[in-house]
Parts: sequence; structure tokens; C-alpha cells
Amino acid sequence: MTDIVISGTGLYTPAQSISNAELVDSFNKYVDLHNEENAAAIAAGDQVALQHSSTEFIEKASGIKSRYVIDKNGVLDPTRMTPRIPDRPNEEHSVMCEMAIAAASEAMTQAGKTAQDIDAVIVAASNMQRAYPAIAVEVQDALGITGFGFDMNVACSSATFGIQQARDSIANGSARCVLMVNPEICSGHLNFRDRDSHFIFGDVCTAVILESAETATSADQYLIVDSKLQTIYSNNIRNNFGFLNRGDDAGVGQPDKLFVQEGRKVFKEVCPAVATQISQQLEKLSLTPDQLKRLWLHQANLSMNQLIAKRVLGRDATAQESPTILDEYANTSSAGSVIAFHKHRSDFMRDDIGVLCSFGAGYSIGSVILKKL
Ligand code: COA
Repeated sequence: MTDIVISGTGLYTPAQSISNAELVDSFNKYVDLHNEENAAAIAAGDQVALQHSSTEFIEKASGIKSRYVIDKNGVLDPTRMTPRIPDRPNEEHSVMCEMAIAAASEAMTQAGKTAQDIDAVIVAASNMQRAYPAIAVEVQDALGITGFGFDMNVACSSATFGIQQARDSIANGSARCVLMVNPEICSGHLNFRDRDSHFIFGDVCTAVILESAETATSADQYLIVDSKLQTIYSNNIRNNFGFLNRGDDAGVGQPDKLFVQEGRKVFKEVCPAVATQISQQLEKLSLTPDQLKRLWLHQANLSMNQLIAKRVLGRDATAQESPTILDEYANTSSAGSVIAFHKHRSDFMRDDIGVLCSFGAGYSIGSVILKKL
């Protein structure tokens, strides 16, 4: 198989950030308002009073300290709890396209590529802001790229699945160089009124340039040694939002049309599956765990990552071996492991090996073994 490399990455971080303290303050105001408005029903035992959230719980249970968002005011307004993202005329770039352009520009500069060098765009994310035309086709047009583009969604694993699609396209000759982008506006699908999950997500966009090693000129290239994808059906992370919703009036706007999860079950079921996948992949490649210099893991929960890294390495990982970005960014769905890779590889020397791994709804797991060239 032709050698295929990642030759550049890019990151767009929204300007606005929300601390746990700010988020909890707005949530608790919402709870007080709700309980006040429903005092009679609560006193009569017809409704259960909502409970306050806490910064201590959030940081201890998840490791998250803050998150970036497209619109802070709408999220923190206790009478709204939803970002304000006004519709734009069709002639203007969509929000997802705008984020994608920013991340893609950095990735293209890093890889030393112009629009003429790229002939495919994949937009891989958990949510698309419209049904069609594909966001990828809009990004392609905005950047002046000829060829083809398509959107794909494998929830939190969209980026690693996107990397494999790009790799396959280059290997089979349908593209020479692919731009794979992950605009994640997670604040759009997060239920900020749900105590169990209101703190989980943040917004961001990452981009990756993939090409044949023969055309790559970047000073910082990573050979894709192997990539492995796995999906196992589960309803433990689910969002029922979709184009058929209007077919049942009673369901429109209900909480199941936003992100819902059974966090404990996800934790218990996904960690062993991820660790096993990475370990089997290393074994297949005749690599020992101590040859793995870095684990750029999906960024959903700090304890989850510590557990996965421990199972793979057979000991606790250092903060350098398994870098954390979720403390600052929260869970940014498919972009999380790519942010970790983007920010934590400058110490890599020739032949150093790492694994870029994502996991999430589906369930879905994608792991890509990378070697610095
Ligand atoms: N503030 C204060 N207390 C809270 C709270 C909040 N915001 N949310 C829940 N609690 C309470 C619960 O009521 C419960 O109380 P109880 O023990 O008295 O019943 C307790 O904290 C534990 O709740 P639980 O939901 O079991 O917490 P957890 O330790 O499982 O942590 C997650 C929750 C979501 C952080 C964790 O399960 C997780 O990250 N799971 C993996 C998620 C994941 O990777 N998802 C992928 C998404 S793409």
C-alpha cells in the first residue's frame, strides 16, 4: 500500500469561554426559577424539585474546568439555556463553514499545500447544521478546491473514521490530497437544563491534511502505520433529532431530541473495548506498549483516559504520555483527540510512535497508529 501521511493539522478555538463556576451559577438560577414557578405542583408531590449542580462534582467526575462556545450569553441566560446563533442568508458562509475555513487554513499552511494541491474535502462531525448542500461542498467552494466533498457523521469518532476514508481515497487513487475537517458546535445539541450532562461539551473545529508520502513536503509528517475502526450498536449515547421529527408533533422539542447518555454505562462498556482495540492493534503490528510514546485519546472524561492508558501501557501514564485538553476545552466530540495531537507532538523525533484514538456514540471506536517521519 502507498505510504500515506498526515502532513498538517489546524485548530479553530472560539473566542468565548465558560468556566464551571459561570455554568453552574446559570444552571442553579434556572433551577430556582423552575422550582419557584412549579412550587405548588412540587408541594403537592406532583413534580419533583430540580436539584442544584456543583463545580466540585463536575471537576471531580469529568476533569472539565471550562469550555469554549460560539455564544456564551444565550447559554448562560437562565431563561434560555441555548446558544443564540442567528440564521444567515444563503449567500453568506454558514457557521460550520466559517470554522472549517479557519482550521483548514492553518492545516494547509502547516502542510505547505494550496487549494490546487487538494482534491477532496471531508467534513466529519457529530452534527451538521443543515441537510444539504453538504457543508463539505461549501467549504470546498470557499477555499477554491476542485474535486469532490462529502459530509459524514460517526459522532465522537467522526475524525478517525474521516482519516480512514481519506486514507482509502488516496490509496485507491480517487484523491491525491484530502482535507478532513471537524467543525463541532456541541453547544447546539447539549441540553443545558440537564444536571447530569450540562457541563460536558464545548465548541471547536480541527482540520487534518492527508496525502501520499511521495507528495508531502511538510517538515512535520506522520505516517499512518495502521488504522482500525469498530462499531457496536448501543443506545447509551443517543440523540433522536432528525428530519422525521415533524411527523410526530408530540415529540418536537422534547429532551430526547438533544444529547442524552447513560454516563456510567458508557464508562464501563467503552473503556475496556477501547483498550482492547489498541492493544490488539499493537500486537498485530508487533509493537510493544513501551514503544508507544503518546496516546492522543478522545477527550470526554479524564478518569476514562487514565483507565484506558493504564490498560494499554500496563501502568499509569504520565501527563505527557496521555495529554489532557478536556480541562480547557471539555468534550469537543470528534475534534478532541485531534486537538490533543495538534497541541502535543512538538517533542516527537523521527520514528517515534503514537496512537490517535476516538470513541463515542454508536458505539464507535477509531484508532490510528502514527509514526513520525
Ligand atoms: N452536580 C452535582 N451532582 C451531580 C450532578 C451535577 N451536575 N450530576 C449528577 N450528580 C450526582 C448524581 O445525582 C449522583 O448522585 P447520587 O449518587 O446521590 O445518586 C452522583 O452525582 C453520581 O452521578 P453519575 O451520573 O453516576 O456520575 P458519574 O460519576 O458517572 O459522572 C459523567 C458522570 C457523565 C461525568 C461520567 O459518567 C462520564 O463522563 N461518562 C462517560 C461519558 C462519555 O464518555 N460519553 C461519551 C460522550 S461522547
